[in-house]
Amino acid sequence: KAVRKAIIAGNWKMNKTRPEAKELLEAIKPLVANAEGKVEVIACVPFTNLETAINATAGSNVKIGAENVHFEKSGAFTGEISADMLVELGVEYVVIGHSERRQYFGETDETVNKRTKAALAAGLKPIVCVGELLWERECNITEEVIARQVKLDFFGVSAEDVKKSVIAYEPVWAIGTGKTATADQAEEVCAFIRATLAKIYDEATAEAVTIQYGGSMNAKNCAELLSKENVDGGLIGGASLKAADFNTIVQAAV
Ligand code: G3P
Repeated sequence: KAVRKAIIAGNWKMNKTRPEAKELLEAIKPLVANAEGKVEVIACVPFTNLETAINATAGSNVKIGAENVHFEKSGAFTGEISADMLVELGVEYVVIGHSERRQYFGETDETVNKRTKAALAAGLKPIVCVGELLWERECNITEEVIARQVKLDFFGVSAEDVKKSVIAYEPVWAIGTGKTATADQAEEVCAFIRATLAKIYDEATAEAVTIQYGGSMNAKNCAELLSKENVDGGLIGGASLKAADFNTIVQAAV
């Protein structure tokens, strides 16, 4: 764990207008300033908020991410946003393959893989989400599902590039449900993800990748989850919309 910097990222999902985004970030900035150099603090915000968020956090230790990116460089893809467009704005991170994208917008491991490669090629750091459905956990195929996602989502990604990536383990049954994975369940799967990376790449590469837990992480349960050896951070939905709660999670990682 010592080799990896903790990363606490908010995923705002489809929330906040620009004035609201500015207000939230202005509240977060002073609270998390002490985490500089210790914890990477990120807010992943809707496309419409990116410019406002980048301006509001300029000169601070809060980094900005997008919530999705298209894999084509440009062209006739109505409604899509390219990696180059995000880089030009000053975006550093991008969430890819969130279960909500997979569930509601038809994203597959194939498109997640393309997006991950496009993001890396443009210089963005992808936060790639993987996670099993409740049904898959009940059928005892969690590891199969996770191994498949990690293998497919990073297919053809070099060891050098995977080290720039973040993997978020988000069990789908824990997202927005208030039902958190226990710290042991989170650790078990995050360790399994690292072991899978070690098989695909090598031990040193696997040790260098930051693996987050996501799914109803909050001010109360964050300390236990983050204390686990292979849980290097969190991807936070609901609790990232409240400055005090988000800060509590950041401080648990300091
Ligand atoms: O990406 C974060 C996420 O899906 C978890 O959401 O609201 O359960 O923290 P939430």
